[in-house]
Amino acid sequence: GHTNRARLLAANEAAREWFTEQLMTEGADTGRRFLGERGFDAAAAQRFGVGYAPQGWDNLGKHLRSRGYTAEELALAGLTSAGERGSYDRFRGRLVWPIRDQTGQTVGFGARRLFDDDKGPKYLNTPETPVYHKSQVLYGLDLAKRDISRARQVVVVEGYTDVMACHLAGVTTAVATCGTSFGVDHIKIIRRILGDDTIGLGEVVFTFDPDAAGQKAALRAFSEESRFEAQTYVAVAPDGLDPCDLRLGRGDDAVRRLITSKKPMFEFVIRQKLSNYDLNTVEGRAAGLREAAPIVADIRDPALRPGYTRELAGMLGVDLGEVSRAVENAR
Ligand code: UTP
Ligand code: MN
Ligand code: MN
Ligand code: MN
Ligand code: MN
Repeated sequence: GHTNRARLLAANEAAREWFTEQLMTEGADTGRRFLGERGFDAAAAQRFGVGYAPQGWDNLGKHLRSRGYTAEELALAGLTSAGERGSYDRFRGRLVWPIRDQTGQTVGFGARRLFDDDKGPKYLNTPETPVYHKSQVLYGLDLAKRDISRARQVVVVEGYTDVMACHLAGVTTAVATCGTSFGVDHIKIIRRILGDDTIGLGEVVFTFDPDAAGQKAALRAFSEESRFEAQTYVAVAPDGLDPCDLRLGRGDDAVRRLITSKKPMFEFVIRQKLSNYDLNTVEGRAAGLREAAPIVADIRDPALRPGYTRELAGMLGVDLGEVSRAVENAR
């Protein structure tokens, strides 16, 4: 039927407000403890609008219906799901982060379970709705936008808690994707904000978790690199930490140092590949070249390929002509 975006946005806003009230209740002590253990005090929770979805079945639904929202609107907004015994709240027994668009309107939520053995995924997100398209949202952009365009830098982290940790540590250009990989629409958003290239290219700094998912995300972002028209870098925290863990264990300074320790993305991706080989041997260099040549060959921007070919030759310690041929053959 007819969907009214304004109604769905208002329902989300009313839900956000209710979640933040719930965080103050006795039943939310596990939620408050979780935040505290992550290094987030009440002021931090408030700054990011973190709330709590109580255990139960239909608490939010009841509240919002009493405020005049219809069951259909709540289902359309992704706040409730239809079950055999009627509609129930999507988010229950979880900490809830409001996901806002650039103008600060709440378009959806990301919600974390509080116990490892809770049912469902670690993070549960709003599904696609008429006002929420996960591929077109960057968490934290409402807060980061101004500093991104001022500093001509955007820091892309993996999680909601990482965005919070970065901002609290003074890295106020941090945003995150919401339960999806970084894609073309995210690039468009960032390019629009970095904007006018007469000021010079901006920079995009990715932090990835040092796990399989993070490695995959790095390669995917690299394959889209030339679409940014900005310089792309990768910063990886030591000892398998993400920015949130890093701040918790080593403080705000360590988070800021993480961002300044950024390496060009190309170098990061190639080094990751080459780390599997012993480059002191002829065999190792040959195998490394076989693995790395297709990556250089896949670079979309033909103007970048010669430069990256030279860099690869330098990293491998292999003759430039040989590396050039390998790259050409991989195309
Ligand atoms: P991580 O598992 O690295 O999340 O996933 P995290 O933020 O570090 O988790 P904790 O809270 O510190 O343990 C990174 C991001 O991937 C999405 C979320 O957006 C999360 O922030 N994700 C992860 C999901 O959407 N669903 C999941 O089940 C897990
Ligand atoms: Mn739409
Ligand atoms: Mn991870
Ligand atoms: Mn984490
Ligand atoms: Mn993580």
